[in-house]
Parts: sequence; C-alpha cells; structure tokens
Amino acid sequence: QWTTSSIVEEQVRRISDQIGDGRAICGLSGGVDSAVAAALVQRAIGDRLTCVFVDHGLLRAGERTQVEQDFVSATGVNLITIDARERFLDALAGVTDPEQKRKIIGREFIRVFEQAERDLKAQGDYRFLVQGTLYPDVVESGGGEGTANIKSHHNVGGLPDDLQFELVEPLRLLFKDEVRRVGLELGLPETIVQRQPFPGPGLGIRIIGAVDQERLDTLRAADLIAREELTAAGLDRDIWQCPVVLLADVRSVGVQGDGRTYGHPVVLRPVSSEDAMTADWTRLPYEVLERISTRITNEVAEVNRVVLDVTSKPPGTIEWE
Ligand code: XMP
Repeated sequence: QWTTSSIVEEQVRRISDQIGDGRAICGLSGGVDSAVAAALVQRAIGDRLTCVFVDHGLLRAGERTQVEQDFVSATGVNLITIDARERFLDALAGVTDPEQKRKIIGREFIRVFEQAERDLKAQGDYRFLVQGTLYPDVVESGGGEGTANIKSHHNVGGLPDDLQFELVEPLRLLFKDEVRRVGLELGLPETIVQRQPFPGPGLGIRIIGAVDQERLDTLRAADLIAREELTAAGLDRDIWQCPVVLLADVRSVGVQGDGRTYGHPVVLRPVSSEDAMTADWTRLPYEVLERISTRITNEVAEVNRVVLDVTSKPPGTIEWE
C-alpha cells in the first residue's frame, strides 16, 4: 500500500538516479502540477534545479507573488522570473478572435521559455526538463491545466535541435488528488496545492474583445473580489472553478449615485465538475452572489453590471473563449 511519504521517497530516489549530477529546468505556471513536480525535483537535486516563471501579464491578482514568495520560501528553489508583460500585450494588441489569441499566447510563451532555456544551457549542464505530466494526461495525452502550453509544445517535438532535453516527469503515475497530497507532504502552501484550475492563456481568454492593460486591470479587480467572497463563504471546495469574464465590447447604461454610467458587464461562471469534460452551473447561494455583485459594481469603476452564466457544459464550454 502506497503512502504519500513512500511516494515522495520513491520519486526522489528515481529522480536522483535519472538526473545524476546533471542540471534541470522546470517551467512554473503557478498551478499545482508544475509546483509539485518542481518541489519533488528540488528535494532530489537541490540547487541543480532552476525554475523559470514567465509573467505574461495575464495572471490573476497575487499569482506572481504566490510563486515568487510562497513557493520559493516553502521549497528554497532557484527561481528566475521573466517579466514578459509588454511583449504579450504588444503581440495581443487588437486581436479579438479566441483561437488567434490562444495561438499568439502559446507562441510567445514558447519563445520566451526557449530563450530562458538557451540562456541556462549557456551557463551550465542543463540537460533535463521537468514536466508536471499527470497520469490522466499520459492516458489521454490531452489537455490539462497550467503547463499545457509547455506540454503540448515539448510533447510534439517542436524543439530546435540544439535544445534537446531529457524529460523528467515525476507525476506520471499520479492522479490529481495524489499530487495534492504529495504537495502537502512536501510542505507546499494550501494556496498552491488546492488551487482551482486556471487556463494557461489566463485572463487573455476571459476578456471578450481585444486585450489591453486597462481591461486586464478591470478584470483582475473583479476576479479578485469574486474569489475573496467565494473563499469567505467557504465554497472553494464545492466549485470546480468560477471564471469571471469581462465583456469588453459590450456596454450598458447604469446609474450610480446621481450619475448615468455606461460601463461593461462581467459574467460570473461558477461551475461544478468532476473532470472538466462536462460541467453543471453551480447554484451559488443568493447572498454570496449579492455580495459579489455589490462589491464589484462598487469597487470596480468600469463595471456597472454583473450577470450569471446558467449554462451547463455541454453546450457551453467552461471558459468563454
Ligand atoms: P473548457 O473551456 O474547454 O475548459 O470547458 C475545460 C477546462 O480546461 C481549462 N482550460 C485550459 N487549461 N490551458 C489550460 O491549461 C488552456 O488553454 C485551457 N483552456 C481551458 C478550463 O479552465 C477548464 O478548467
């Protein structure tokens, strides 16, 4: 019978055997899988692991800090953060088509990450690349959370010849709940281990319309309020996730104080699901919806209307784009 601590011991031993005295790179997405994979490898090879975190500017409030401070202080890992916010904003300027956005974000991500790989390879014997591939990913070789961009890229063999890595995949035999237990065993904070799914393209696909800095700030503020209120109501474990979507090209008339407003709606998309293949819209308590709505319309200047998405999947996907 496998206990969590025996899984950790066994994996640490295997990783040490595989990597020997080499060096490894791990891309962190802010998600559970890459964090736990990195923490395991760090246990095994210490500072011969370097983690790379790309801030593409499409993150939610607090996510960069979570990686740079909470994850680093829990693990002592070497971390390089690449601030690529401007680059992504430039590449996304004026783009409204969802697939186009996804392609641009994926492409830019790969370029930035490959540059980091090259820089590290120039500095030392980095021959290994750590991936947070889970058992279900192996079976379906499908989507997944967080590191999907890195995954799909590296798995399809799109690497230039001079950038060959041997993969280290310490979570290949584990399911998500086991990964979470391993994370806790390794001392990772709950905020990382229990994090709900968040798409690789981030807030870029939750702005319906073109992405710009102001819209990102608006959405980030509304999203933070929704997350705070859901957490305060103790609902984090009951919902799969709750995307907040900014309808940036829609305006409606409102009234605040004595003044007429002409602002944007945000959509709350709370869903319940087992595996994200199908989902039902979550019947959140009215009081919680009311608090989220009141706070968002009071605190986020550009937003004057909050609407609720009551569509299951199918026919709706969880994300709007
Ligand atoms: P959909 O919108 O297809 O989403 O119903 C299903 C689940 O996948 C997440 N999602 C992504 N995760 N990269 C990811 O890592 C992506 O490009 C991506 N798109 C969607 C979504 O949040 C939901 O949990």
